[in-house]
Amino acid sequence: MKTIIEPFRIKSVEPLRHTTVEERERFLAEAGYNLFLIKARNILIDLLTDSGTNAMSTEQWAAMMRGDESYAGSESFFRMERVVQELTGLKHVIPTHQGRAAERILFTVLCRKGHVIPNNTHFDTTRANIEFSGARAVDLPIPEAADTQVRLDFKGNMSVAALERLIETEGVKNIPLVMLTVTNNSGGGQPVSLENIAAVKRVAARYGIPLYLDACRFAENAWFIREREPGYAGFTPKQIAQKMFSFADGCTFSAKKDAFANIGGLLCTNDDRLAVLETNLLILTEGFPTYGGLAGRDLEAIAVGLEEVLDPDYLRYRIVSTGYLGRHIADHGVPIVEPPGGHAIYIDAERMLPHIPKDRFPAQALAVELYRHAGIRSVEIGSVMFGANAQHELLRLAIPRRVYTQSHIDYVVEAILEVSEHRDRIRGLAIESEPPLLRHFSARFRQL
Ligand SMILES: Cc1ncc(COP(=O)(O)O)c(C=O)c1O
Repeated sequence: MKTIIEPFRIKSVEPLRHTTVEERERFLAEAGYNLFLIKARNILIDLLTDSGTNAMSTEQWAAMMRGDESYAGSESFFRMERVVQELTGLKHVIPTHQGRAAERILFTVLCRKGHVIPNNTHFDTTRANIEFSGARAVDLPIPEAADTQVRLDFKGNMSVAALERLIETEGVKNIPLVMLTVTNNSGGGQPVSLENIAAVKRVAARYGIPLYLDACRFAENAWFIREREPGYAGFTPKQIAQKMFSFADGCTFSAKKDAFANIGGLLCTNDDRLAVLETNLLILTEGFPTYGGLAGRDLEAIAVGLEEVLDPDYLRYRIVSTGYLGRHIADHGVPIVEPPGGHAIYIDAERMLPHIPKDRFPAQALAVELYRHAGIRSVEIGSVMFGANAQHELLRLAIPRRVYTQSHIDYVVEAILEVSEHRDRIRGLAIESEPPLLRHFSARFRQL
């Protein structure tokens, strides 16, 4: 059979609430045209993020009842630690309340002013935490990734030549780690090949620099490798994920993505000395090392989720259903980042709305219009989020895991195509107020 169905059935449901265009216009004005500031009850389909928005399984809910809430030495921690060690092969597993807490601890320990941290493309919190430590975050995607329309199997790869050049010009002592984000979220949710991970590791190892994976979407990346990289079709997603991690000296991880959890993160390392420094910082702000800011039940949900996410039926459905949204809008003329990524579809707003210049935030304007028109929340990944560092003006439609059915996605397709029909009437925005860091979360805009 050609039809790929959701590999789950629904046991518990949450109602969705319809609103009118007039109501949404009022909500937008009240929120300063920033969709982060709109109440969730006023959203019909929420594609703001795939982070922490996962639907948990019966097994995860059952495991949560087993959660050991002991302050120290919780059984739930050791269960989770075993799963993570088996998957990653990494020695020290430090739980945190979410991914950015792992980033903050890692960069506080490793980075200082004058340091440079390369990545294929840094995610916003990663960049912000690096800059907060005084270091500089540098993106080194392959040059072909600059063209949103080019279809490559592994468009998330890092440019190995650019990495070598950076190390030569900045000096080894100024590069405390190299990072690779799998999949490359800010670069369109595009995967990184095993060949590229191995090549980056070879360069980093030659200079004695540790390689860290930002592993939020490791399972989706593993599936793309299985489908696209010669030689891996016969491997299980777990075997491929293990191979990916075998090149890493450490990782940061947000369990809000590919662990099917609603909260949680991890910082892992093979370095005993670093682990001590990191654990000391953990205790200062996150908590004792066997819970790190999480409840025992959260650790259980992560442990089960990390195993469930590697189910081939799930991963096949996940990648095919994301592609379904992408193909159905792209084939009707909406420019997306090609090819479709793993967790999200990214509309190239600069191409779709050429009448809105970059400094009037075309992707934010599109996000506002999609909400006004159909109650769908998406997120700008462009000049609002990254300022002058933005390579593109993208609108991301991130798909929560196991949450929406195909009819929800068909509604999204229809809404985007209707917005596309009247795209000439969409107006740009100007910023009215903004905070000093991560401005996209709370900036306010006015319509021009
Ligand atoms: C690639 C990447 N790294 C890091 C993070 C940060 O994780 P968290 O939101 O759990 O702090 C995210 C979250 O979206 C991400 O996509």
